[in-house]
Amino acid sequence: MKTLTFFLVAFLAISVSFGVDRNNFKTCDQSGFCNRLRKFKPEKSQYAVNLDTVIVHGSVLSAEVNTVDTSTEKKIILWRYALRLSALKDGTFRIEMDEADPLYPRYRTQLSLNGEPKGDSLKLVSNINGQLTVKNGQGHSVVITAEPLKFEFLDKKGDVAVVVNENSQLLVEPLKEKGKKAVENDDEGSLAVEAEDESAWSETFKSHHDSKPRGNEAVSIDISFPDADHVYGIPEHTDNFALKTTTDGEPYRLFNLDVFEYELNSRMAIYGAIPVMYSHGTKRSAGVFWHNSAETWVDVVNYAEGTVVSSLVNLVTGGQKRRVDARFMSESGVVDLFVFLGDKPADVFRQYITLTGVAPLPPKFSLAYHQSRWNYVDQADVRSVDEGFDTHDIPLDVIWLDIEYTDGKKYFTWDPIKFATPQDMVANLTAKGRKLVVIIDPHIKREAGYFVHEDATENGYYVKNKDGNDYEGWCWPGASSYLDYFNPVVSKYYSERYRFENFPGTSKDVHFWNDMNEPSVFNGPEITMPKDCRHYKPPQDGHEGLASYWEHRHVHNEYGLFFIRGTHEGSLQRADSKYRPFILTRAVFPGTQRYAAVWTGDNMAEWGHLAVTVPMCLSLAAAGVSFCGADVGGFFKYPEAELMTRWYQAGAFQPFFRAHSHIETKRREPWLYEPATTALLREAVRRRYALLDFWYTLFYEHSTKGLPVMRPLFQEFPDEEETFTIDDEYLLGANLLVRPVTEPGVNSVKVYLPGKESKTIWYDVDSYKAIPAAGYMHQEVNIGKIPVYQRGGSIIPRKERVRRSSALMADDPYTLVVALDVNKAAHGTLYIDDGETYEYRDSKYIYANIDYKNNELNYTIVNKNAKYPTRSWLERVVIAGIRNSPKSAKLTQGDKTTALQLTLHKGNDVLVVRKPGATMAASWTITFGY
Ligand code: GLC
Repeated sequence: MKTLTFFLVAFLAISVSFGVDRNNFKTCDQSGFCNRLRKFKPEKSQYAVNLDTVIVHGSVLSAEVNTVDTSTEKKIILWRYALRLSALKDGTFRIEMDEADPLYPRYRTQLSLNGEPKGDSLKLVSNINGQLTVKNGQGHSVVITAEPLKFEFLDKKGDVAVVVNENSQLLVEPLKEKGKKAVENDDEGSLAVEAEDESAWSETFKSHHDSKPRGNEAVSIDISFPDADHVYGIPEHTDNFALKTTTDGEPYRLFNLDVFEYELNSRMAIYGAIPVMYSHGTKRSAGVFWHNSAETWVDVVNYAEGTVVSSLVNLVTGGQKRRVDARFMSESGVVDLFVFLGDKPADVFRQYITLTGVAPLPPKFSLAYHQSRWNYVDQADVRSVDEGFDTHDIPLDVIWLDIEYTDGKKYFTWDPIKFATPQDMVANLTAKGRKLVVIIDPHIKREAGYFVHEDATENGYYVKNKDGNDYEGWCWPGASSYLDYFNPVVSKYYSERYRFENFPGTSKDVHFWNDMNEPSVFNGPEITMPKDCRHYKPPQDGHEGLASYWEHRHVHNEYGLFFIRGTHEGSLQRADSKYRPFILTRAVFPGTQRYAAVWTGDNMAEWGHLAVTVPMCLSLAAAGVSFCGADVGGFFKYPEAELMTRWYQAGAFQPFFRAHSHIETKRREPWLYEPATTALLREAVRRRYALLDFWYTLFYEHSTKGLPVMRPLFQEFPDEEETFTIDDEYLLGANLLVRPVTEPGVNSVKVYLPGKESKTIWYDVDSYKAIPAAGYMHQEVNIGKIPVYQRGGSIIPRKERVRRSSALMADDPYTLVVALDVNKAAHGTLYIDDGETYEYRDSKYIYANIDYKNNELNYTIVNKNAKYPTRSWLERVVIAGIRNSPKSAKLTQGDKTTALQLTLHKGNDVLVVRKPGATMAASWTITFGY
């Protein structure tokens, strides 16, 4: 009863007031290591390379680094470290530094890299005057100054692109034994380095005590980006895409947290943490990836920003106007920094995703429209929502079930009354090509008789508290424990719960939503797991006591990734790896994209929250997570008609398109609004479906090339300075520019159309009107208008016969929209497969180039032995910007030639070729005669 009261009070408290409770979350000052490290500003770095120990072998330079006490004549070595600098393929370097002989092994992040990075060659070019110069196989070099230690990374032209430890903030706090003074032997005997510091061994935040059994073990590094105008990345925050100088306030924090009613324009941590940062300026792009899963804070100083005092600018940059400095500080781990030398935005994005892995091709339905709510209460409700979409002629691919579908919040079960026959419910959906997604959270209800709880208790599968007993916290089910997914046996056990026989009622058409995986613990410090909880570590000889487990502090940001990896594994195995899984996660870490799509959590039905979806998803996309979306309509509160309309219109052009809402909000299925609004919502969803094959092609190309699907303008126009800070518009692939309306009551919005220099033409997709790029322009917007522009020189596939679900549109014909550039040419691509299996890996797909030039439109299947016999055909070709009408057109496919009908719409120079009828299963040509 006591627990129930606690729960209800907590729940009510959260449901009446709006706004984040900052008191629940630490500021940098309240976080021991952040407070300590932020003050650490030595005049010069204490670290020095011992030049006698340098070895260059293969792709690696290794050396001993020492900290030296320079206070006396005699330079006394305080501590020894092992340094490795590796050259990696594709213009990437890696710096690793750990204690040479740590008291306990320090945690190295396990899952974020997609395998061992591939090495490049590394040659020692020179070793003079205390400076080592090495060069990789691509012509980038690194100059290492031995003392004080500094790394300068030079681009192929020999210009300095990235400097590491310029500001002397490289730091590895040596592990010490409690009660003993830190001592390191050197040739002279031994030396005590530091007096015992009590705060090193325990910390308190509110009523939470952290026992810190290993003491202080923080690491940090600083990076300078010369010539950079801005830096980007380090999601997840609710701030602008271009990061701001932090010296006037809090650093950006990376610590996966369930922040209730998160606020906007904030550097506070929320659900995800991806420590990758990119710099960009007209000269080059570069980047760094700080490979660490502990709590991390990041300071940024942009010397070109007004807030940075000009005397400081001159002092630090020597008068250079453009430079951005950053500093990463983590509570534990080792120094492990990847450096990307670009030199274009697309290069740095690719360099990062090459390390952490691209997202695999998603099942096609997952790119369509999803309808969710906390909660669809029972099967009858699901049925009526499903039917509502048909009645109101709105396409829908997926219905979602939130936590209440379970039997008392016990995952892998169904409520026996409300969801008594899940098979029937699923069959009803799949008959229309629709799917079901159900939620599975990582907390396990501590209830006698619940099989997961019994198995976990009996076999020791739970995360342990600091004393080694099963850790118990609070989450949706009340008293809960958390499976220790770090243990391969537990992970396997968890994956097996997804087998059809273990989760009856599910089928290949039921997919999963993994929420609360930061992990969220309602009564834990900062609403998460205590840092001194214990996780599995593979047993190793001699590793006893503190060396025999990892603390939650070491692995925190990676917890959610281990969880979703298990879900992914389970979703694959249940169907013999035949079908592509779809998983949605809230917690995010590098590598998440290999397993799941991401949404931005519990937002609000407010205009600012609609606007922030763009920078939030742009930042995630740059950090490898292209499959991103926000709760359409806003999770908390009720969106009035205009906001709802604008949100659907924005969502229709964002990768993950799902409406979702809080249990206590008014129902808001699209037909519950006035008919005029319902019509607008319908139109927005139908637009998504018309472009679904464009989206699918983009995601296919993402899976092969790794470039973001949702792109900042400067990725495509890297020299155009105005684009560097634009984060209210973006590109889908290279060719569709979207500027969602995120302001209330407007009848015009400012849109920046890039590419003036290159004479780019943009076509308004509604009118095909050509607009030559000229920077900012005003776009008139009525309530039905979504400002979207197709780039001249591109071809975009569409399907105009929108049906109830994407599966029902599989064989439908295509319309190709050809938007001509100044040279009257255009190019596009199209990917087609069965949408759900892995058979595309056996050539069962079509990937085609579509080219318009010299009065010919060519559709050429690129993949040899394409074995996908699509029944889709070519229904229409629309050519925008054509001016002069050809007199005739003929289609050639195989040995057949057919004359085609043409219509020219003079007002907007659009030529329409009607019903060419070509099959998309084989190459064809349309030739225009003048
Ligand atoms: C969390 C999720 C939200 C979900 C709720 C209940 O707040 O972010 O989307 O509806 O939990 O599961």
